[in-house]
Amino acid sequence: MKTFSFTLNHHGTMKAALGRSLENIPAAFPALFAAADKVCLVTGSDAPPSLRARALALFPEGRAPHEYFWLPPSESAKTLEQAGRLASFLFERGFSRSSLLIAAGGGAVTDLAGFAASIYMRGIAWVSVPTTFLAQIDAGLGGKTAVNLAGAKNIAGTFHQPALAVCDTAFLDSLPHAELRSGAGELVKYAMIGPAALAAVIKKNLSKTLAGDKSALTACVSACAAYKLKLVAKDERDERGVREALNFGHTAGHAFEAMSGGKLPHGEAVARGIRFALIASREAGILKRDEFQRLDTLVDALRLKPARVRRDFRHFLSLVSRDKKARGASNRFVLIAGPGRLAPAEDLDAPLLKLAFEGALK
Ligand SMILES: NC(=O)c1ccc[n+]([C@@H]2O[C@H](COP(=O)([O-])OP(=O)(O)OC[C@H]3O[C@@H](n4cnc5c(N)ncnc54)[C@H](O)[C@@H]3O)[C@@H](O)[C@H]2O)c1
Repeated sequence: MKTFSFTLNHHGTMKAALGRSLENIPAAFPALFAAADKVCLVTGSDAPPSLRARALALFPEGRAPHEYFWLPPSESAKTLEQAGRLASFLFERGFSRSSLLIAAGGGAVTDLAGFAASIYMRGIAWVSVPTTFLAQIDAGLGGKTAVNLAGAKNIAGTFHQPALAVCDTAFLDSLPHAELRSGAGELVKYAMIGPAALAAVIKKNLSKTLAGDKSALTACVSACAAYKLKLVAKDERDERGVREALNFGHTAGHAFEAMSGGKLPHGEAVARGIRFALIASREAGILKRDEFQRLDTLVDALRLKPARVRRDFRHFLSLVSRDKKARGASNRFVLIAGPGRLAPAEDLDAPLLKLAFEGALK
């Protein structure tokens, strides 16, 4: 087990444990668990039984959760109503400000449980145990919590850093291929935004991760999680522009995800959003054609299926203009000038956006 402790730029520290088939997490982080008067484990109702068994192996007898709470499947968990349902459950079961929430699941579970932890009694400690590939390299790390509102992604949310994040790649053994491919969408993002050494690890392992290769998945989770945690430590609340790189592909990606009515998994939507950003960067004249080809090959490697998204460009424009990252501009996208060289751009014109929109949804 590799353990990390990062000092956050706002306050406090962020701890993480990474590895495969981890056990007895409380023994490695005794202060956190000794301080908790009660522990609730939150998982998704559609998760396989093996997920709960593995989660319980992390927290052995004597330190086992006192209560269990199930959320509805995937994205349907990310509502204010579900956050209220969880907070009411905690209250009815006597949870206090010294209690601990453990969220074990994909990004939908960690986003919702982290959000509930941030509002319950004005904030209680939580542990993030991401169990999908996507959540282990991205969603389960970094303390952004959110619910969706009015058909738009992550409109209400908080920054509430988990006291501990545990990425155990043994969870990935039960992950269906579609979820591996979805996670690989975020993986490709890291290959484009990160340093050359990180891109090299990803390029070497990308096709093996899609085939579920255990050591390839562990190598990518270790490298990406360590990189994300380092960025987050420098810019916990997304105020210094450091975290903005992590949004590469996400503005268009979130719009595609919302437009698909939940049919497009997050990582696949992000992969399409990345392709959108590559085309927009090329058309805006900041990404050379040969570099475009090299980067786009990585999206190609994902072998995306035809996108189940209605080609409604006006709807797309309205979603991107209301994106919380637009900051008053008509639109704002993170574009790219080359590997690791990001260039936020605002108020891009409609013909350029339409070209990128059509190319991304091909
Ligand atoms: N907070 C952030 O920084 C951040 C970053 C990226 C994405 N996100 C959010 O994350 C969400 C997507 O997360 P996701 O891709 O993990 O999808 P998800 O949470 O919807 O999970 C996908 C499916 O995988 C199942 N599952 C989970 N673990 C499993 C396992 N070990 N074995 C078998 N099945 C398992 C779940 O039950 C679910 O059916 C989106 O809501 C997105 O907005 C958040």
